[in-house]
Amino acid sequence: MDEAISNIPYLGNGIGFRLELKSFIYLNRDKIDFVEIIAEHYIDVPDFKMNELEQLKKHFTVIPHAINLSLGSSEGIKKDYVKKLKELIEYIDPPYWSEHISYTQAHGYDIGHSSPIIYNEEFLKVISGNINEINLTIKKPLILENITYHVELPGKTYSDAEFLNLLCERTGCGLLLDITNLYINSRNFSFDPFEFINKLNIENVVQLHYVGYEISTTQIIDTHSRKTQEEIFELIKYILNKHRPKGILLERDERFEYLEEIMDDIEKMNILLIT
Ligand SMILES: [Fe+2]
Repeated sequence: MDEAISNIPYLGNGIGFRLELKSFIYLNRDKIDFVEIIAEHYIDVPDFKMNELEQLKKHFTVIPHAINLSLGSSEGIKKDYVKKLKELIEYIDPPYWSEHISYTQAHGYDIGHSSPIIYNEEFLKVISGNINEINLTIKKPLILENITYHVELPGKTYSDAEFLNLLCERTGCGLLLDITNLYINSRNFSFDPFEFINKLNIENVVQLHYVGYEISTTQIIDTHSRKTQEEIFELIKYILNKHRPKGILLERDERFEYLEEIMDDIEKMNILLIT
């Protein structure tokens, strides 16, 4: 692991900043240690959005979470986009930033959502090459997030844990382990999430994401809209017994009106972090 990753300071308990939660977040500053912003919400935006970010910076450590770099695209990364992201990251000056292990663009087309890459050597070379190129421009440490997938694509030669271990080794990046995504994949594709954690180089895990999942008619899906279920907290406790990530963050994206659910998750996590 990169020295820059191991030098990241401890952040604590965080929440994804969403406009609908703005008052909730400011009113509960005593319970929230850091926030994550969607980087793309602050690129090419009017002044009032940058003022919003300036205010956030005054009260919290802010972590930029990018969603559209498309690290898994074989045609490479858009350089002008990396430049804009670099400017934003330099303005925020965070201890690290994050992106997903996925692609959102193919042959110049924007797919509109994170699509899974195939865990094999070919994709490992593509994504490592893209990340190593970005790391030449953006000097802050990058951590990589696991996503959910709803079909298992043919050609997979590495297990999920093996792939993440190799990716960190080849790029020097840390991991943003999304516990809910891990749980959802394990249920939809019948593997043991605890075994996954045992096989993962756990010291690579810099941050966790968590939120409640939703059950559709055929699969479990990551709508980021529910109170966090007990099975997710059990996985977090299992990790905390082995390793202490720098930050753990609630990633709620829907049903914002259920503030008591959100508060419950935040308070439960604060208790977990002091025990
Ligand atoms: Fe996530």
